[in-house]
Amino acid sequence: MSLLEGKVAIVTGSGRGVGRTYALKLAEYGAKVVVNDLGGDTAGGGTDLTPAQEVVNEIKSRGGEAIVNGGDVSDWNSAKEMVQQAIDTFGGLDILINNAGILRDRMLVNMTEDEWDIVIKVHLKGTFAPTHHAANFWRMESKAGRQPDARVINTTSHSALYANIGQANYAAAKGGIASFSQVAARELQRIGVTVNAIAPRAETRMTAGLREWTPEQLERRDPEWIAGFVAWLASPEAKDVSGRVFEVWGYGITVSESWQHGPTCEASKDPTELGERVRKILKFARSNAGINPGEWLDP
Ligand SMILES: NC(=O)c1ccc[n+]([C@@H]2O[C@H](COP(=O)([O-])OP(=O)(O)OC[C@H]3O[C@@H](n4cnc5c(N)ncnc54)[C@H](O)[C@@H]3O)[C@@H](O)[C@H]2O)c1
Repeated sequence: MSLLEGKVAIVTGSGRGVGRTYALKLAEYGAKVVVNDLGGDTAGGGTDLTPAQEVVNEIKSRGGEAIVNGGDVSDWNSAKEMVQQAIDTFGGLDILINNAGILRDRMLVNMTEDEWDIVIKVHLKGTFAPTHHAANFWRMESKAGRQPDARVINTTSHSALYANIGQANYAAAKGGIASFSQVAARELQRIGVTVNAIAPRAETRMTAGLREWTPEQLERRDPEWIAGFVAWLASPEAKDVSGRVFEVWGYGITVSESWQHGPTCEASKDPTELGERVRKILKFARSNAGINPGEWLDP
């Protein structure tokens, strides 16, 4: 039997990029897939259902089952309808992959209110809204005595975890998604739902042209590497994995360790007493981690 036989999945933003690869991979391993994509440009402008329809056609041509959803994941009602569409079409929902995203990069002094608002909305609300509606379905199932074995996989980013300059809006949203995933994992544990986040690194239109890659580097940025892990994490085999953040690409799968309590000093209500104490704990604390293992951000 296939790894995801009989499972029903929603993959948001799966008309293109890494999401497209997830949808194809989940279908290859037996899942029925709702292919959600608004079909806008990288900055979130416009709509076009063609990419999502092409993914559905590709899945069907290989003998799988899939359906298009063209809703905006950050719209409350569209997110609700998307979850309902999965239930109405395929009889349930087992896997929700929140992947849709856009970029509006700018140094924060130049960033406009709109650039802030839309990036926060698409990523953060676009993760919360589908998760909320899916979780309500799973809670009803649990109450009805049908305990779910369900998965939510959210998408964070190295930009958030390791503080990439020029992406304050995106990093704030993606950092929020990492924290949201940890809280959601704890809240949904009792109804049989695992929640994890991944930070992918792949060559897509979102990252195209950022740097010149060697053929070997480009191959390690093939979204297929990430899709393999996502399919495993979505499967019954990963039932005991929840509340984690993973960095994933062709070079490996890394568990991103979360905030840790570091050195502590005595508190004081008198600020003049604090300078020496705080410097001392900073001296013994690790610096914030940089993007590569063993790399630290300047203190
Ligand atoms: N490519 C990378 O290296 C990388 C790194 C870190 C994080 N990510 C994240 O991975 C995810 C996928 O990125 P990608 O590189 O495949 O980009 P992409 O632009 O190729 O794909 C994103 C898809 O999301 C869709 N989308 C955008 N807003 C939407 C909305 N409101 N509702 C529904 N669909 C919407 C777009 O139409 C597009 O097809 C994003 O969340 C991105 O932030 C990517």
